[in-house]
Amino acid sequence: MAEVIIVESREAAGALVADAIVRLVRGNPEAVLGLATGSTPLPVYEALRARVGELDLSKVRGFALDEYVGIDPRHPESYRSVITREVVEPLGLDPRRVRVPDGSLDGIEHHGSDYEEAIGEAGGIDLQILGIGTDGHIGFNEPGSSFASITRVKTLTQQTRDDNARFFDSVDDVPMHCITQGLGTILRARHLVLLAFGEGKAAAVAGAVEGPVTASLPGSAIQLHPRASVVVDEAAASRLRFAEYYRYTYDNKPDWQVL
Ligand code: F6R
Repeated sequence: MAEVIIVESREAAGALVADAIVRLVRGNPEAVLGLATGSTPLPVYEALRARVGELDLSKVRGFALDEYVGIDPRHPESYRSVITREVVEPLGLDPRRVRVPDGSLDGIEHHGSDYEEAIGEAGGIDLQILGIGTDGHIGFNEPGSSFASITRVKTLTQQTRDDNARFFDSVDDVPMHCITQGLGTILRARHLVLLAFGEGKAAAVAGAVEGPVTASLPGSAIQLHPRASVVVDEAAASRLRFAEYYRYTYDNKPDWQVL
């Protein structure tokens, strides 16, 4: 099962995951990162930003998890814009090495397979950062998504559109469709790091980590992965049945066994 690390704050989570990325990039300057958007990964990107002086990220390659379909890529809330603003520019990544699924309608039927091909050509994703939706989605794989799915177009649930309305002027402006890495794509990454903060994520986290493995809660797919780390604050951990054991395990973790 996943390693669960309960931290006291978002900043602590960001620092921990940034450390893992720094180690990865020191070992391989051309490492391939899977990049999540939304609010959850921001502390990771902020912590990495504080370390750009000691680390050259210009050769790192990146693949975003998802994009809205039909959104103007220049819209401030397109994931292309978010990745440029929060990741590429502040971290000094080479924009030519960072891809976001193409959400334009022209040729949309090929954009998923093109993306899969690009990930394959890059040698696969080394470390995939994940958030989780209140309905249990990872990427934009909504409940019912196949564990074998690859990058494709999906329809967002009303719950996800309501959750994401905070980024737009109104819920009606939240696109209805998205293009997302599939659960199969995500499961092929070599290391999954799922973060979650706040009480609102507690049920989804408990389902993903301890619930049955089911397409009804797509985040539970992480239980099938040989190397999955879950970094949560106390509130997001509040419904975990084995929270005490996770704390005990982490407190007694040998120095040589890093995230
Ligand atoms: C974003 C993504 C989604 C989000 C999830 C949580 O690229 O794939 O799975 O991680 O919707 O969103 P936040 O972090 O805004 O709560």
